[in-house]
Amino acid sequence: MKKIALLTSGGDSPGMNACIRSVVRTAVNHHMECWGVYSGYEGLINGDMRKMDSSDVSNIIQRGGTILKSSRSKEFRTEEGRKQAADNLKAKGIEGLVVIGGDGSFQGALLLEEEQGIKCVGVPGTIDNDLYGTDFTLGFDTAVNTVVECVDKIRDTADAHNRLFFVEVMGKDAGFIALRSGISVGAEAILLPETETYVDQLIEKLERGWERHKSSSIIIVAEGDDAGGAYEVAAKVKKKFDHYETKVTVLGHLQRGGSPSANDRLLGSTLGHAAVKALKAGLSMEMVGQINGDIAFTPFKQAVKHHQEINWNLLELAELLSL
Ligand code: F6P
Repeated sequence: MKKIALLTSGGDSPGMNACIRSVVRTAVNHHMECWGVYSGYEGLINGDMRKMDSSDVSNIIQRGGTILKSSRSKEFRTEEGRKQAADNLKAKGIEGLVVIGGDGSFQGALLLEEEQGIKCVGVPGTIDNDLYGTDFTLGFDTAVNTVVECVDKIRDTADAHNRLFFVEVMGKDAGFIALRSGISVGAEAILLPETETYVDQLIEKLERGWERHKSSSIIIVAEGDDAGGAYEVAAKVKKKFDHYETKVTVLGHLQRGGSPSANDRLLGSTLGHAAVKALKAGLSMEMVGQINGDIAFTPFKQAVKHHQEINWNLLELAELLSL
């Protein structure tokens, strides 16, 4: 394989730039031409791409977002859209594609290869960490650190005023950010999409804290929790438990931005390198991840079908430590 392309797709995540840098420089190192596609599959359909060299990826490893920009393309969900995208690649003699994104992006890559014969390898890039076949996805570690930094600040003011805070974090289908950050900030409770939320039990817990003269409480709510977002849960609790003044903070998109952590830079560099080597070796329709520190390949078909399981031991630990 002499020519490859790469794109970032879906929600951006810190570490994508480190991965782009690694893909481009590994390709150059292996005497392959590397084309950067702008705005994900949207750019592939519009032929918005240009050849990249080592110097094009200088000074980006520390930057959040993605220099290639990203999108969620509706047109790529149609066969015509995918054909147009493949024709643009074929016209340039590009045979392989590295897709950095989440499971929606891999579903697209799977179809691009099955229907149009473009060889694709995926790198898991999403702050949600909900992909099967890797311990961590690009951006997750940074997002968790961002949440921890923010909630520590909220704790200061919550404590100063004896307040109860509901903090909403991202994760519409998965509670990985909520669970990991919740334990790290010593949250009094963590509400996840993976578990049922019983408001009465939450209130009982808060009552116990109140009796023990707790001066503040923090409840981390994943946006996809079944009891609703942080505003809804806060309203339900407030009706029956009004000992503390109640406040809500939705952290929102600030969790997606910022300079990547060292872990995410390392992961992006490692997986980008492995993705190019895989394409060169003739591998395709696979996602490259890392399991227990080792590079691991998972077929797209499995990666998009399964979801990574929440770590139930961590959830138990959170329960135990938040008495
Ligand atoms: O998939 C990552 C994610 O950040 C989710 O946690 C969140 O629900 C969603 O993207 C928001 O997406 P957007 O801002 O692109 O609409």
